[in-house]
Amino acid sequence: MCIKESLRLHPPVTVISRCCTQDITLPDGRVIPKGVTCLISIFGTHHNPAVWPDPEVYNPFRFDPESSKDRSPLAFIPFSAGPR
Ligand code: HEM
Repeated sequence: MCIKESLRLHPPVTVISRCCTQDITLPDGRVIPKGVTCLISIFGTHHNPAVWPDPEVYNPFRFDPESSKDRSPLAFIPFSAGPR
């Protein structure tokens, strides 16, 4: 839990990129067209206050099983996720 919380607060890799292989429709309706390269902020994802209350506070208990069970696995991506 301590290691995960450290990786959340201070991800060693802060940004990754992905090329969209299909059109991606965002929740607000805007579309990222196929072929566009996107930068994904791991740092920003790990500091999103909608997912991580008080994001600057070091709290390993964010990662106890009870607190983690309803959180998307894509909310914590220090090693990234998906194909590359
Ligand atoms: C806390 C330690 C580490 C973190 C947080 C980390 C994180 C990452 C991230 C975010 C990527 C980008 C993956 C992507 O774009 O999807 C990556 C790629 C990579 N990492 Fe690490 N890494 C760590 C340690 C290591 C170590 C110790 C090694 C080798 C001994 C290593 C070797 C690589 C390689 C070879 C890639 C490129 C993989 C590829 O694109 O095929 N990483 N790592």
